[in-house]
Amino acid sequence: MTEFEPQYEALVNLAKQARENAQAAYSNFRVGAALRASSGRMFGGCNVENATYGLTVCAERVAIFKAISEGERGFDAMAVVADTDSLTPPCGACRQLIWEFCGDVPVILANLRGKVEVARMRDLFPRPFDASSL
Ligand code: THU
Repeated sequence: MTEFEPQYEALVNLAKQARENAQAAYSNFRVGAALRASSGRMFGGCNVENATYGLTVCAERVAIFKAISEGERGFDAMAVVADTDSLTPPCGACRQLIWEFCGDVPVILANLRGKVEVARMRDLFPRPFDASSL
């Protein structure tokens, strides 16, 4: 496990704030994410669900797409917040995209009661398929 750095606090707070906007009418599982770009800008995201279920987009991908569409490219940390005792890690689809856009970044997992853990993408997503595989 990687150490929690004080600079991650702002990212976790932004993820908590983004979680407040979650559209989770079907699962009632509200998630917030925040992504920090190398430029220093931070982008929040929440999960956005849909009546088809399958078109749901996770908080992590919303944060990534917001940042990418604002012209950001390099990223150095991602935070994910949910109201669960056991911390919520990114799903498989999000791990693929976090890996491709952000690489081996620290992923700060937090809940609303102060529990925090810092994981590395290389541990969450071992043996990836990516551009180097093509
Ligand atoms: N979800 C996220 O937004 N991020 C995660 O890391 C795990 C799952 C969302 C998708 C769906 O809206 C709800 O949580 C339940 O799976």
